[in-house]
Amino acid sequence: MKEVKGYPGNLEFKNEVLLVAQLQHRNLVRLLGFCLEDSERLLIYEFVPNKSLDYFLFEKKSNTSRTVIAIVVPIVACIVIFFFIFIYLRVKRKSWKNLEMDQDEIGSTESLQFDFGTISAATDNFSDSNKLGQGGFGAVYKGRLTNGQEIAVKRLSRESGQGDQEFKNEVLLVAKLQHRNLVRLLGFCLERRERLLIYEFVPNKSLDYLLFDPRKRAQLDWERRYKIIGGIARGLLYLHEDSRLRIIHRDLKVSNILLDADMNPKISDFGMARLFVVDQTQGNTSRIVGTFGYMAPEYAMHGYFSVKSDVYSFGVLVLEIVSGKEE
Ligand SMILES: Nc1ncnc2c1ncn2[C@@H]1O[C@H](COP(=O)(O)OP(=O)(O)OP(=O)(O)O)[C@@H](O)[C@H]1O
Ligand SMILES: [Mg+2]
Repeated sequence: MKEVKGYPGNLEFKNEVLLVAQLQHRNLVRLLGFCLEDSERLLIYEFVPNKSLDYFLFEKKSNTSRTVIAIVVPIVACIVIFFFIFIYLRVKRKSWKNLEMDQDEIGSTESLQFDFGTISAATDNFSDSNKLGQGGFGAVYKGRLTNGQEIAVKRLSRESGQGDQEFKNEVLLVAKLQHRNLVRLLGFCLERRERLLIYEFVPNKSLDYLLFDPRKRAQLDWERRYKIIGGIARGLLYLHEDSRLRIIHRDLKVSNILLDADMNPKISDFGMARLFVVDQTQGNTSRIVGTFGYMAPEYAMHGYFSVKSDVYSFGVLVLEIVSGKEE
């Protein structure tokens, strides 16, 4: 917990904290939340057990400095502990509710849940003119929220045999995955047997539209293709290695690579697959998802999926991007 002083404006402070809390990476200390009360400003971080690097690097000290440390450290530690107990009691007494509310803002279901009416209005009642395409999980519609933000809404087909709570939990986890080369999941809607996933709208369609259209293909010079391949690799590396959860995509293919206004690639549909805890690299499934030409043989034949089967699909993807031919 860290006390912050001399920062301007409460609203500015809140906004900055909300932004910083969204930065999630295995190599970053996680900001869990904040507390704002009177002149008190606290930042709440995850506790990292093994101290900071300098503690290990500069361990060799002379005898005198050891004695000084042996006296000073316990005294400082006591003062710090008393200080925190004091702060803790004060904060707990005064603003427990406040803290809960603020943390909610950062990580709860409510902030990600949209109501059906809002989405229905945004997509003009799921009109055909707003339909962007149809995939294995349902149709995708373009929409615009009242604040002007453009969204893509995936209306899941109703037979996806998963409980409401399970669905919410998955969405919460997947929404936390944030990377420049991933399509951002903004939220979800769960109402009247409807299940919707709300994504950021990525303006330049998916890679297949460009790659397999003889006229549009000209837009993709070698430099652009090279950048696209690099971007996909970075997104995939984040899913496999750098995010807090290990995610195996399981359906990496050209139609799941979207291009933003600057033609940067963004991987979509990454959370549709099963979620992994960090040390688990391999799974077995009886219900195979994925598209045949992209599937590694062990996945296609036995349902074994792993980081390696994703890399196989990535290989097929690279061949397609280079050759311009479908698998
Ligand atoms: N966030 C988005 N922004 C813009 N367009 C999108 C977005 N998500 C999907 N689309 C468009 O909607 C189409 C359908 O997407 P969808 O993911 O449902 O199908 P798919 O990728 O062809 O197959 P699959 O269901 O296996 O992923 C895509 O080809 C893409 O052009
Ligand atoms: Mg898709």
